[in-house]
Amino acid sequence: MTTSSIARMTAPPSTAYKIVDVPEGYADVIKRHGIPGTFVASSERESPWVPFGPNAAIRHLHFDTRHNIFGNILWMKSAGVIGTHKHRGTVVMICLEGSARYLEYDWVAGPGDFIYETPGLIHTLVSDHPNGVKLFGWLQGRLEFYDDSGTFVETVDVWWFINHYESYCREHGIPINKQLYI
Ligand SMILES: [Fe+2]
Repeated sequence: MTTSSIARMTAPPSTAYKIVDVPEGYADVIKRHGIPGTFVASSERESPWVPFGPNAAIRHLHFDTRHNIFGNILWMKSAGVIGTHKHRGTVVMICLEGSARYLEYDWVAGPGDFIYETPGLIHTLVSDHPNGVKLFGWLQGRLEFYDDSGTFVETVDVWWFINHYESYCREHGIPINKQLYI
């Protein structure tokens, strides 16, 4: 963007620190059929770390069963491997802490780095960092996991993630947080 095009911008930002009443011709329809957004605070009371194998945990943030979309934070607690998997949908990830990479690529993601994955990709997630990695992920569609000889093991999709969350909550007497369901 050039300096002159920035100068022509009029919005955003704004200096009006207030809620503005915006016209909406279909406000009644949205009120009847719109789906509210959600908010999940960082407290484990709102969503606990659920073990994912011996060295990892997942903190579930949202489940969208209409679109097979699920959001979470994956925590590998030390250097290690998450198995080889194939994507049938799109994934958006941001590295929050530590570092991670895929054996198949030549980059290493550190804090603040952005990762975008597309249908058909097959790769093996590892962390070489002594403290592992925390990755925020927004995932769409299913993932298929394979063992180290290339044999299919399991499909992971929104239903798998909901079951992962709910079964842990049931076992530990933790109330299901409705805010996670979009
Ligand atoms: Fe992946």
